[in-house]
Amino acid sequence: MQVKKAEFICSNTRVDKLPEPKIPEYAFIGRSNVGKSSLINAMVNKKGLAKTSQKPGKTQLINHFIINDDWYLVDLPGYGFAKTSKSNRSEWEKFIRRYLTRRENLQCVFVLVDSRLEPQKIDLEFCCWLGECGIPFMLVFTKSDKQSAVKSDVNIAKFRKALLEWFEEVPPHFLTSAEYKTGCEDILAVIDDINGRFVIPEIDTLP
Ligand code: GTP
Ligand code: MG
Repeated sequence: MQVKKAEFICSNTRVDKLPEPKIPEYAFIGRSNVGKSSLINAMVNKKGLAKTSQKPGKTQLINHFIINDDWYLVDLPGYGFAKTSKSNRSEWEKFIRRYLTRRENLQCVFVLVDSRLEPQKIDLEFCCWLGECGIPFMLVFTKSDKQSAVKSDVNIAKFRKALLEWFEEVPPHFLTSAEYKTGCEDILAVIDDINGRFVIPEIDTLP
């Protein structure tokens, strides 16, 4: 898929204030600083569309971008940011989990994992929670430019193996670099494929 247009729509904490769920939606999630916002910018070829920072905790809200007037890409705040206070963290838990479990048009969550690290408990637990909720997800290993392909492959294999303790099958994965736009086309191809099968969800209008 070619990205011809990418625009910021809105930032929110409330699910009832999000744009109408009439087009397919994809969310990027993962630990603070893993590279969610950077990869979004690389995918849509627009530096600065999603705000990035060297310091963890930059993205604080649910940020909607509309791509090709056809689908939403969502940048979420990261989890596991040690400097965030406990109450702040539970707020994160609440509004992100509410978003992930209630958003009718959410087609797939891309869970970003740092390809340089051995499997981290927080990432594995998050994947398990998605599985328990029946939320479809795929794995995106980031920052592949920062170490050798062999090291990335070892960490990916370990992560997949760890997930197999909970899942019968592990979802597809991508190895990416926002720096070199590695893997971006592959993710866009998967999104294009899912978009082709999208049916507008029936919205529950009961209070
Ligand atoms: P939060 O919004 O705080 O949760 O972080 P984030 O996951 O959105 O990370 P962000 O995209 O802001 O990137 C964090 C830092 O990692 C920035 O300094 C980026 O330049 C750097 N970074 C992200 N992706 C890559 C990559 O693929 N390669 C390299 N070398 N650096 C990257
Ligand atoms: Mg961010």
